[in-house]
Amino acid sequence: MPSAEIEREVESLRVSLENWNYQYYVLDQPTVPDADYDRALRRLQELEAQHPELLRPDSPTQRVGAQALSEFTQVAHEMPMLSLDNAFDAQELRDFDRRVRERLGRGNDEIEYACEPKLDGIAVSLLYRDGILQRGATRGDGFSGEDITHNVRTIPSIPLRLNGRGIPGVLEVRGEIYMPRQGFEQLNERARAAGEKTFVNPRNAAAGSLRQLDARLTAQRPLQMCCYSVGLVEDGDLPDTHAQVLDSLLRWGLRTNPESRVVRGIASCEAYYESLAQKRDGLPYDIDGIVYKVNDLEAQQRLGFVSRAPRWAIARKFPAQEEMTRLLDVEFQVGRTGAITPVARLEPVFVGGVTVSNATLHNSDEVQRLGVRIGDTVIVRRAGDVIPQVVSVVPDRRPEDAKAVQFPGRCPVCDSPVEREPGEAVMRCMGGLVCAAQQKAAIKHFVSRRAMDIDGLGDKLVEQLVDEGLVLNVAGLYRVSREQLLQLERMGEKSADKLLASLENSKNTTLARFLFALGIREVGEATALSLARHFGSWEALAAATEEQLLQVDDVGPVVADHLRQFFDSVSSQEVVAQLRESGLHWPDLEPPQADQLPLAGETWVVTGKLEAMERNEAKAILQELGAKVAGSVSARTSCVVAGPGAGSKLGKATELGVEVIDEAAFIARLETMGVTL
Ligand code: IVH
Repeated sequence: MPSAEIEREVESLRVSLENWNYQYYVLDQPTVPDADYDRALRRLQELEAQHPELLRPDSPTQRVGAQALSEFTQVAHEMPMLSLDNAFDAQELRDFDRRVRERLGRGNDEIEYACEPKLDGIAVSLLYRDGILQRGATRGDGFSGEDITHNVRTIPSIPLRLNGRGIPGVLEVRGEIYMPRQGFEQLNERARAAGEKTFVNPRNAAAGSLRQLDARLTAQRPLQMCCYSVGLVEDGDLPDTHAQVLDSLLRWGLRTNPESRVVRGIASCEAYYESLAQKRDGLPYDIDGIVYKVNDLEAQQRLGFVSRAPRWAIARKFPAQEEMTRLLDVEFQVGRTGAITPVARLEPVFVGGVTVSNATLHNSDEVQRLGVRIGDTVIVRRAGDVIPQVVSVVPDRRPEDAKAVQFPGRCPVCDSPVEREPGEAVMRCMGGLVCAAQQKAAIKHFVSRRAMDIDGLGDKLVEQLVDEGLVLNVAGLYRVSREQLLQLERMGEKSADKLLASLENSKNTTLARFLFALGIREVGEATALSLARHFGSWEALAAATEEQLLQVDDVGPVVADHLRQFFDSVSSQEVVAQLRESGLHWPDLEPPQADQLPLAGETWVVTGKLEAMERNEAKAILQELGAKVAGSVSARTSCVVAGPGAGSKLGKATELGVEVIDEAAFIARLETMGVTL
């Protein structure tokens, strides 16, 4: 007999899980991190396994998802859409492998496993009859879901008609609909700028987008589908292994995950886990683990299912990308353009594979929208190389003495007034170069690798130079003497000489680099390059009217306005004059006749990860050679440079017969045009 205490724990776990489930699946408003949910579910599973008399058919462990919203038509799945068991460490994965071998009577034979990233999105089923898309449905509770046909039809990676040979008469394809990180960030960025509600994570954004009754809204969301299995199959045969089935799907026009691999034995499964864990941050989408599947379909049949999950598959989880922690304080950071960002100081928490103790709160609108107070328990998200963010507050855990966040009326660094421009969410310090924070940030940008590339001048040293009053602005850098440098703490003769040499070196530069280094608002590397190429000289650029500026690729009214403000400001003119007096120089360019450049008239696309250079760098080089660089592949694309991890763009290029080259071939091609890296 279980004790009353155990009974109470089981009951309380059920109530919590149901509550969280409802919030997460039905309302799309998660109140706890996934990791807490998983922990509670596991605990309940354990207790129910130890005390079977407590098991009830309505327990959260006995169902797959949650009920669907009533506005959509219900669809019964011909075959239930089940869930996966989790392995939380290497040992649990080995246990899984042992059970598989035992059940199949394979002794110590190594099993062949298909390994796939576990995408964090929404599970859906697509039904094709005679190769035509008939119906799209969500998983719902696993037995019936919502009919979302009109929404899935708007997703470009879902073919309305399959192509190729051997397509079964009836084919139900299953997979995940998700929102790539970049699309998610942009969506939230726009929402933030418009003062609208943001999404907590890409998974919620995908769910919210699919749950639109108006498919035109869904169509505007950057959703993607990746297929990982089939359900109902009639009037036709599929190959004998899971991996071959996926190959068939890919051939017929459906997206599958290019990271998937077939490996032999559990040790190779672990190696795959390690290698994907390394890659995780660089992937363009969120994954929360790896799915391992017995590759042989006949063996899958023999293994069968237990209540909610197949015996032939398991998910090995990665560290959660959302965790709960406490907000200790809010500080205000002043950036290069004076923008004041509230930064959350957090009780350190392990999230997304690293320990996080600071997270951005973006701006005052965001703080208001979150309703966050100092002392609150908050959910922090860290995914990919995006800076950690506070995504929601757990209201139940608010302490009585929680304090409201006070925005400063004056700059916390230089005490200048703070202003908020109409229509802008950002507050700015009006101190300009009087503000030490802005000075430091501007100098750090100026010396950075992609700008003036001044070696030996790290953040710490910049701060020292400003704090000691040796350098007031970027022009001051070139006037620091050896003696002054040597007075600085921890500065030896060698480092001082090295720094002076790299300062000297940096004087020989290009107009594009110089322009970028100045840190004019909204003038990034690509815009700087376009401007330099268009005008050829500083004088021509500085004298350009707004209309002339607007003729440049990349330059819209906002950028043109920032440029004019910069050129019209007396202090900016002075800094530039001082820099040139110190010897900064660059060759003027003949504004090139576009058609004389080697890649004139061509459109290139760069996708995937490059080794020898950043993607931005590759783009800048291509532009310099006269090519247009596009974000998507079309029939007019001249060439695609594809690194590892290239996804849909690569598929599209192959489909359209566009030339695709890898990085090595790209570098070789550049060399033929006189560009060496
Ligand atoms: S196979 C019967 N493969 O994870 C096996 N699922 O926790 C069904 N998921 O509902 C799932 N990536 O939404 C499978 N490569 C993958 C997956 C994957 C993500 C999701 C799917 C499923 C959930 C199970």
